[in-house]
Amino acid sequence: MSFFRINRRKCDIPVQISDLIITVSFKERKGTGMYKAKEDRYEKMRYFRTGKSGLMLPAVSLGLWHNFGDTGVYSNMEQMCFTAFDNGITHFDLANNYGPKEGSAESNFGQILKEHLMPYRDELIISTKAGYGMWPGPYGDWGSRKYLLASLDQSLKRLGLDYVDIFYHHRMDPDTPLEETMGALAQAVTSGKALYAGLSNYDGPTLEKAEAILKDLHVPFVINQNSYNIFNRTVEKNGLKDTSAKLGKGIISFSPLAQGLLTNRYLDGIPEDSRIRTDGRFLREEQVTEEKLAQIRGLNELAAERGQTLAEMALAWILRDGIVTSVLIGASRPSQILDNIKAVENTQFTAEELIRIDELSGNAEAV
Ligand SMILES: NC(=O)c1ccc[n+]([C@@H]2O[C@H](COP(=O)([O-])OP(=O)(O)OC[C@H]3O[C@@H](n4cnc5c(N)ncnc54)[C@H](OP(=O)(O)O)[C@@H]3O)[C@@H](O)[C@H]2O)c1
Repeated sequence: MSFFRINRRKCDIPVQISDLIITVSFKERKGTGMYKAKEDRYEKMRYFRTGKSGLMLPAVSLGLWHNFGDTGVYSNMEQMCFTAFDNGITHFDLANNYGPKEGSAESNFGQILKEHLMPYRDELIISTKAGYGMWPGPYGDWGSRKYLLASLDQSLKRLGLDYVDIFYHHRMDPDTPLEETMGALAQAVTSGKALYAGLSNYDGPTLEKAEAILKDLHVPFVINQNSYNIFNRTVEKNGLKDTSAKLGKGIISFSPLAQGLLTNRYLDGIPEDSRIRTDGRFLREEQVTEEKLAQIRGLNELAAERGQTLAEMALAWILRDGIVTSVLIGASRPSQILDNIKAVENTQFTAEELIRIDELSGNAEAV
Protein backbone atom coordinates (compact mmCIF):
# COMPACT_ATOMS: atom_id res chain seq x y z
CA MET A 1 0.00 0.00 0.00
CA SER A 2 1.21 3.52 -0.70
CA PHE A 3 0.81 6.23 1.93
CA PHE A 4 2.44 9.08 3.82
CA ARG A 5 2.87 8.34 7.49
CA ILE A 6 2.63 11.56 9.45
CA ASN A 7 4.04 11.38 12.97
CA ARG A 8 2.40 13.99 15.16
CA ARG A 9 3.52 13.26 18.68
CA LYS A 10 2.30 9.70 19.15
CA CYS A 11 -0.29 9.46 16.38
CA ASP A 12 0.59 8.05 13.02
CA ILE A 13 -1.79 9.15 10.31
CA PRO A 14 -1.52 7.03 7.13
CA VAL A 15 -2.31 8.97 3.98
CA GLN A 16 -2.47 7.16 0.64
CA ILE A 17 -0.78 9.37 -1.93
CA SER A 18 1.91 7.56 -3.91
CA ASP A 19 4.08 4.45 -3.91
CA LEU A 20 6.46 6.06 -1.39
CA ILE A 21 6.40 5.75 2.38
CA ILE A 22 7.58 9.03 3.90
CA THR A 23 7.59 9.91 7.58
CA VAL A 24 6.95 13.57 8.30
CA SER A 25 7.38 14.71 11.87
CA PHE A 26 5.80 17.87 13.12
CA LYS A 27 7.74 19.80 15.72
CA GLU A 28 5.31 21.32 18.13
CA ARG A 29 6.54 24.39 20.00
CA LYS A 30 5.39 23.10 23.33
CA GLY A 31 6.10 19.56 24.39
CA THR A 32 8.91 18.45 22.08
CA GLY A 33 11.43 20.89 23.61
CA MET A 34 10.49 19.90 27.15
CA TYR A 35 13.39 20.20 29.59
CA LYS A 36 14.55 17.12 31.42
CA ALA A 37 16.59 17.69 34.55
CA LYS A 38 20.01 16.07 34.89
CA GLU A 39 20.02 12.85 36.89
CA ASP A 40 23.11 13.90 38.88
CA ARG A 41 21.70 17.30 39.90
CA TYR A 42 22.06 16.70 43.64
CA GLU A 43 25.63 15.47 43.61
CA LYS A 44 27.67 18.66 44.01
CA MET A 45 25.49 21.21 45.79
CA ARG A 46 25.52 21.50 49.58
CA TYR A 47 22.25 21.99 51.50
CA PHE A 48 21.97 23.78 54.81
CA ARG A 49 19.22 23.83 57.39
CA THR A 50 17.27 27.09 57.56
CA GLY A 51 17.84 28.03 61.19
CA LYS A 52 16.31 25.35 63.36
CA SER A 53 13.47 24.62 60.94
CA GLY A 54 12.97 21.52 58.84
CA LEU A 55 13.63 23.41 55.61
CA MET A 56 16.91 22.75 53.79
CA LEU A 57 18.12 25.30 51.26
CA PRO A 58 20.91 25.04 48.71
CA ALA A 59 24.06 26.95 49.67
CA VAL A 60 23.54 28.93 46.45
CA SER A 61 20.06 30.12 45.44
CA LEU A 62 19.01 32.03 42.32
CA GLY A 63 17.22 35.38 42.46
CA LEU A 64 15.15 36.74 39.57
CA TRP A 65 15.30 40.45 40.37
CA HIS A 66 17.24 41.29 37.21
CA ASN A 67 17.26 39.74 33.72
CA PHE A 68 13.89 38.01 34.14
CA GLY A 69 11.63 40.96 33.35
CA ASP A 70 10.16 42.00 30.04
CA THR A 71 13.49 43.50 28.93
CA GLY A 72 15.22 40.12 29.37
CA VAL A 73 15.64 37.40 26.74
CA TYR A 74 13.23 34.53 27.42
CA SER A 75 15.49 31.75 26.09
CA ASN A 76 18.28 33.04 28.36
CA MET A 77 15.92 32.98 31.35
CA GLU A 78 15.05 29.37 30.53
CA GLN A 79 18.69 28.38 30.23
CA MET A 80 19.58 30.06 33.53
CA CYS A 81 16.78 28.19 35.32
CA PHE A 82 17.81 24.88 33.75
CA THR A 83 21.50 25.41 34.57
CA ALA A 84 20.59 26.28 38.14
CA PHE A 85 18.32 23.30 38.71
CA ASP A 86 20.68 20.89 36.90
CA ASN A 87 23.32 21.90 39.43
CA GLY A 88 21.24 21.50 42.56
CA ILE A 89 19.88 25.04 42.92
CA THR A 90 16.40 24.21 44.15
CA HIS A 91 15.52 27.69 45.37
CA PHE A 92 14.24 30.46 43.08
CA ASP A 93 13.48 33.83 44.65
CA LEU A 94 11.02 36.40 43.31
CA ALA A 95 9.02 39.41 44.47
CA ASN A 96 5.81 40.95 43.23
CA ASN A 97 7.68 43.95 41.79
CA TYR A 98 10.56 42.22 39.96
CA GLY A 99 10.71 43.28 36.32
CA PRO A 100 10.63 45.67 34.62
CA LYS A 101 7.71 45.91 34.35
CA GLU A 102 6.57 45.00 37.85
CA GLY A 103 5.21 41.47 37.94
CA SER A 104 6.87 40.40 34.70
CA ALA A 105 9.57 38.27 36.37
CA GLU A 106 6.83 36.26 38.08
CA SER A 107 4.95 35.94 34.78
CA ASN A 108 8.06 34.81 32.90
CA PHE A 109 9.05 32.35 35.60
CA GLY A 110 5.42 31.15 35.66
CA GLN A 111 5.73 30.40 31.95
CA ILE A 112 8.98 28.47 32.50
CA LEU A 113 7.29 26.52 35.29
CA LYS A 114 4.34 25.73 33.09
CA GLU A 115 6.41 24.67 30.09
CA HIS A 116 9.26 22.86 31.85
CA LEU A 117 9.60 22.81 35.61
CA MET A 118 6.15 21.85 36.88
CA PRO A 119 7.03 18.13 36.93
CA TYR A 120 9.68 19.11 39.51
CA ARG A 121 7.43 21.35 41.65
CA ASP A 122 7.98 19.29 44.79
CA GLU A 123 11.76 19.66 44.35
CA LEU A 124 11.54 23.46 44.22
CA ILE A 125 11.42 26.21 46.83
CA ILE A 126 9.79 29.25 45.25
CA SER A 127 9.54 32.46 47.22
CA THR A 128 7.90 35.79 46.64
CA LYS A 129 7.42 39.02 48.58
CA ALA A 130 5.33 42.13 49.01
CA GLY A 131 6.33 45.35 50.71
CA TYR A 132 7.56 47.81 48.06
CA GLY A 133 5.37 49.88 45.75
CA MET A 134 3.42 47.65 43.40
CA TRP A 135 0.20 49.32 42.27
CA PRO A 136 -1.20 52.86 42.53
CA GLY A 137 -3.19 54.10 45.49
CA PRO A 138 -2.85 53.47 49.21
CA TYR A 139 -3.23 49.67 49.09
CA GLY A 140 -0.28 48.68 46.89
CA ASP A 141 2.69 49.45 49.16
CA TRP A 142 4.23 48.85 52.62
CA GLY A 143 2.75 46.39 55.14
CA SER A 144 -1.03 46.46 55.49
CA ARG A 145 -3.05 43.27 55.60
CA LYS A 146 -4.97 44.57 52.59
CA TYR A 147 -1.79 44.92 50.50
CA LEU A 148 -0.01 41.71 51.49
CA LEU A 149 -2.91 39.33 50.95
CA ALA A 150 -4.05 40.91 47.67
CA SER A 151 -0.48 40.90 46.41
CA LEU A 152 0.03 37.24 47.26
CA ASP A 153 -3.08 36.35 45.25
CA GLN A 154 -1.72 38.34 42.30
CA SER A 155 1.69 36.65 42.57
CA LEU A 156 0.14 33.18 42.61
CA LYS A 157 -1.83 34.02 39.49
CA ARG A 158 1.25 35.27 37.63
CA LEU A 159 3.28 32.25 38.74
CA GLY A 160 0.48 29.82 37.94
CA LEU A 161 0.83 28.25 41.39
CA ASP A 162 -1.52 27.27 44.21
CA TYR A 163 1.08 28.14 46.83
CA VAL A 164 4.56 29.58 47.24
CA ASP A 165 7.03 27.97 49.58
CA ILE A 166 8.07 31.21 51.30
CA PHE A 167 6.13 34.46 51.47
CA TYR A 168 8.09 37.48 52.72
CA HIS A 169 7.23 40.87 54.02
CA HIS A 170 9.73 42.79 51.86
CA ARG A 171 10.64 45.70 54.15
CA MET A 172 9.88 47.11 57.58
CA ASP A 173 6.87 49.43 57.68
CA PRO A 174 7.25 52.12 60.36
CA ASP A 175 3.55 53.05 60.29
CA THR A 176 1.60 49.78 60.17
CA PRO A 177 1.34 47.90 63.49
CA LEU A 178 3.67 44.92 63.41
CA GLU A 179 0.75 42.77 64.65
CA GLU A 180 -1.20 43.57 61.48
CA THR A 181 1.65 42.72 59.09
CA MET A 182 2.53 39.53 60.96
CA GLY A 183 -1.17 38.63 61.06
CA ALA A 184 -1.24 38.86 57.27
CA LEU A 185 1.74 36.48 57.03
CA ALA A 186 -0.10 34.12 59.40
CA GLN A 187 -3.18 34.25 57.17
CA ALA A 188 -1.03 33.55 54.08
CA VAL A 189 0.15 30.36 55.77
CA THR A 190 -3.15 29.20 57.27
CA SER A 191 -4.91 29.72 53.94
CA GLY A 192 -2.39 27.32 52.37
CA LYS A 193 -1.05 29.96 49.98
CA ALA A 194 2.41 29.91 51.59
CA LEU A 195 4.21 27.12 53.43
CA TYR A 196 6.64 29.32 55.36
CA ALA A 197 6.92 33.00 56.23
CA GLY A 198 9.96 35.23 55.89
CA LEU A 199 11.05 38.77 56.70
CA SER A 200 13.24 40.90 54.50
CA ASN A 201 15.27 44.00 55.32
CA TYR A 202 14.35 43.87 59.03
CA ASP A 203 16.87 44.87 61.71
CA GLY A 204 17.69 42.89 64.86
CA PRO A 205 15.31 44.63 67.33
CA THR A 206 12.34 44.61 64.91
CA LEU A 207 13.03 41.00 64.01
CA GLU A 208 12.88 40.09 67.69
CA LYS A 209 9.47 41.77 68.13
CA ALA A 210 8.11 40.25 64.92
CA GLU A 211 9.34 36.80 65.89
CA ALA A 212 7.50 36.96 69.22
CA ILE A 213 4.23 37.79 67.45
CA LEU A 214 4.71 35.09 64.83
CA LYS A 215 5.52 32.56 67.53
CA ASP A 216 2.26 33.41 69.34
CA LEU A 217 0.41 32.92 66.06
CA HIS A 218 2.18 29.56 65.47
CA VAL A 219 3.50 30.76 62.11
CA PRO A 220 6.39 28.79 60.60
CA PHE A 221 8.61 31.85 60.24
CA VAL A 222 11.98 30.48 59.19
CA ILE A 223 14.11 33.00 57.32
CA ASN A 224 15.42 36.54 57.03
CA GLN A 225 16.46 37.95 53.67
CA ASN A 226 19.00 40.78 53.92
CA SER A 227 21.81 42.33 51.96
CA TYR A 228 25.15 40.95 53.14
CA ASN A 229 28.47 40.86 51.37
CA ILE A 230 32.16 41.70 51.84
CA PHE A 231 31.38 45.39 51.29
CA ASN A 232 28.00 45.66 53.06
CA ARG A 233 28.20 44.64 56.74
CA THR A 234 24.87 46.20 57.83
CA VAL A 235 23.49 42.95 59.29
CA GLU A 236 26.55 42.68 61.53
CA LYS A 237 25.94 46.22 62.79
CA ASN A 238 22.12 46.32 63.16
CA GLY A 239 21.86 43.13 65.17
CA LEU A 240 20.11 41.10 62.46
CA LYS A 241 22.82 38.44 62.13
CA ASP A 242 23.23 37.84 65.88
CA THR A 243 19.49 37.98 66.64
CA SER A 244 18.69 35.62 63.81
CA ALA A 245 21.24 33.08 65.06
CA LYS A 246 19.99 33.50 68.63
CA LEU A 247 16.38 32.87 67.58
CA GLY A 248 17.29 29.88 65.42
CA LYS A 249 16.18 31.53 62.19
CA GLY A 250 17.89 31.27 58.82
CA ILE A 251 19.44 34.07 56.79
CA ILE A 252 19.58 34.24 53.02
CA SER A 253 21.99 36.89 51.85
CA PHE A 254 20.90 38.98 48.86
CA SER A 255 23.24 40.83 46.49
CA PRO A 256 26.12 38.69 47.80
CA LEU A 257 28.30 39.93 44.93
CA ALA A 258 27.35 43.58 45.54
CA GLN A 259 25.42 43.44 42.23
CA GLY A 260 28.53 42.36 40.34
CA LEU A 261 31.16 44.60 41.96
CA LEU A 262 32.61 41.59 43.81
CA THR A 263 33.46 39.80 40.56
CA ASN A 264 35.90 40.39 37.73
CA ARG A 265 33.14 42.29 35.83
CA TYR A 266 34.46 45.83 36.31
CA LEU A 267 38.22 45.22 36.59
CA ASP A 268 38.92 46.55 33.09
CA GLY A 269 36.25 49.19 32.65
CA ILE A 270 32.48 48.99 32.38
CA PRO A 271 31.33 46.38 29.85
CA GLU A 272 28.40 47.27 27.61
CA ASP A 273 26.53 44.11 28.66
CA SER A 274 26.97 44.73 32.40
CA ARG A 275 24.21 45.65 34.87
CA ILE A 276 25.47 49.23 35.05
CA ARG A 277 24.94 49.70 31.31
CA THR A 278 21.91 47.49 30.68
CA ASP A 279 19.87 48.60 33.67
CA GLY A 280 21.45 51.31 35.78
CA ARG A 281 18.54 51.68 38.22
CA PHE A 282 20.26 50.12 41.22
CA LEU A 283 23.97 49.89 40.31
CA ARG A 284 25.34 53.07 38.84
CA GLU A 285 28.59 54.03 37.15
CA GLU A 286 29.47 56.56 39.87
CA GLN A 287 29.63 53.69 42.39
CA VAL A 288 32.70 52.33 40.58
CA THR A 289 35.14 54.82 42.05
CA GLU A 290 38.95 54.52 41.88
CA GLU A 291 38.91 53.67 45.58
CA LYS A 292 36.35 50.90 45.06
CA LEU A 293 38.31 49.56 42.08
CA ALA A 294 41.49 49.42 44.17
CA GLN A 295 39.59 47.40 46.79
CA ILE A 296 38.19 45.05 44.14
CA ARG A 297 41.68 44.53 42.66
CA GLY A 298 43.13 43.70 46.06
CA LEU A 299 40.34 41.25 46.80
CA ASN A 300 40.75 39.73 43.35
CA GLU A 301 44.43 39.05 44.08
CA LEU A 302 43.60 37.41 47.39
CA ALA A 303 40.97 35.24 45.67
CA ALA A 304 43.58 34.13 43.12
CA GLU A 305 45.96 33.16 45.96
CA ARG A 306 43.14 30.99 47.33
CA GLY A 307 42.64 29.42 43.89
CA GLN A 308 39.19 30.99 43.53
CA THR A 309 37.62 33.63 41.34
CA LEU A 310 36.63 36.80 43.17
CA ALA A 311 32.95 35.81 42.85
CA GLU A 312 33.65 32.39 44.39
CA MET A 313 35.62 33.91 47.28
CA ALA A 314 32.95 36.57 47.93
CA LEU A 315 30.24 33.91 48.19
CA ALA A 316 32.41 31.56 50.26
CA TRP A 317 33.12 34.43 52.69
CA ILE A 318 29.39 34.78 53.42
CA LEU A 319 29.07 31.06 54.11
CA ARG A 320 32.25 30.92 56.23
CA ASP A 321 30.75 30.71 59.74
CA GLY A 322 27.65 28.56 59.15
CA ILE A 323 25.21 31.31 60.18
CA VAL A 324 23.99 32.23 56.70
CA THR A 325 21.89 29.47 55.15
CA SER A 326 22.22 30.43 51.49
CA VAL A 327 23.70 33.07 49.22
CA LEU A 328 21.09 34.50 46.86
CA ILE A 329 22.89 35.29 43.63
CA GLY A 330 21.72 37.05 40.51
CA ALA A 331 23.02 36.20 37.06
CA SER A 332 22.84 37.48 33.51
CA ARG A 333 23.97 34.22 31.89
CA PRO A 334 24.28 30.52 32.75
CA SER A 335 28.11 30.59 32.92
CA GLN A 336 27.96 32.94 35.93
CA ILE A 337 25.81 30.42 37.79
CA LEU A 338 28.35 27.69 37.05
CA ASP A 339 31.18 29.89 38.32
CA ASN A 340 29.28 30.84 41.47
CA ILE A 341 28.33 27.36 42.59
CA LYS A 342 32.03 26.47 42.79
CA ALA A 343 32.12 28.68 45.89
CA VAL A 344 30.76 25.80 47.97
CA GLU A 345 33.94 23.79 47.36
CA ASN A 346 35.98 25.94 49.76
CA THR A 347 34.30 28.07 52.43
CA GLN A 348 37.21 27.87 54.91
CA PHE A 349 39.28 30.98 55.61
CA THR A 350 42.34 31.46 57.76
CA ALA A 351 42.23 34.20 60.41
CA GLU A 352 44.83 36.07 58.37
CA GLU A 353 42.72 35.92 55.20
CA LEU A 354 39.69 37.25 57.08
CA ILE A 355 41.71 40.18 58.40
CA ARG A 356 43.03 40.92 54.90
CA ILE A 357 39.46 40.89 53.51
CA ASP A 358 38.35 43.35 56.18
CA GLU A 359 41.31 45.62 55.47
CA LEU A 360 41.03 45.42 51.69
CA SER A 361 37.30 46.17 51.75
CA GLY A 362 37.60 49.12 54.13
CA ASN A 363 36.02 47.20 57.02
CA ALA A 364 39.08 46.92 59.23
CA GLU A 365 37.15 48.41 62.17
CA ALA A 366 34.70 45.49 61.93
CA VAL A 367 37.40 43.09 63.17
N1 LIG B 1 14.90 41.41 49.58
C1 LIG B 1 15.38 42.44 48.91
O1 LIG B 1 15.10 43.61 49.23
C2 LIG B 1 16.29 42.18 47.75
C3 LIG B 1 17.01 43.23 47.16
C4 LIG B 1 17.89 42.94 46.12
C5 LIG B 1 18.01 41.62 45.68
N2 LIG B 1 17.27 40.63 46.25
C6 LIG B 1 17.38 39.23 45.80
O2 LIG B 1 18.74 38.87 45.65
C7 LIG B 1 18.96 38.39 44.33
C8 LIG B 1 20.35 38.65 43.89
O3 LIG B 1 20.62 40.05 43.88
P1 LIG B 1 21.71 40.61 42.89
O4 LIG B 1 21.29 40.29 41.49
O5 LIG B 1 21.98 41.99 43.25
O6 LIG B 1 22.93 39.65 43.30
P2 LIG B 1 24.50 39.64 43.01
O7 LIG B 1 24.81 38.18 42.94
O8 LIG B 1 25.19 40.47 44.01
O9 LIG B 1 24.70 40.32 41.59
C9 LIG B 1 24.34 39.66 40.41
C10 LIG B 1 25.06 40.26 39.22
O10 LIG B 1 26.47 40.09 39.36
C11 LIG B 1 27.04 39.71 38.12
N3 LIG B 1 27.60 38.35 38.28
C12 LIG B 1 27.05 37.30 38.92
N4 LIG B 1 27.89 36.25 38.92
C13 LIG B 1 28.99 36.64 38.26
C14 LIG B 1 30.20 36.01 37.92
N5 LIG B 1 30.45 34.75 38.28
N6 LIG B 1 31.13 36.71 37.23
C15 LIG B 1 30.90 37.99 36.87
N7 LIG B 1 29.76 38.65 37.14
C16 LIG B 1 28.82 37.98 37.84
C17 LIG B 1 25.93 39.76 37.10
O11 LIG B 1 25.92 41.10 36.61
P3 LIG B 1 25.89 41.46 35.04
O12 LIG B 1 24.45 41.66 34.77
O13 LIG B 1 26.69 42.69 34.98
O14 LIG B 1 26.47 40.31 34.29
C18 LIG B 1 24.70 39.54 37.93
O15 LIG B 1 23.54 40.04 37.35
C19 LIG B 1 17.87 39.08 43.52
O16 LIG B 1 17.62 38.45 42.30
C20 LIG B 1 16.70 39.00 44.45
O17 LIG B 1 16.15 37.71 44.41
C21 LIG B 1 16.43 40.89 47.29
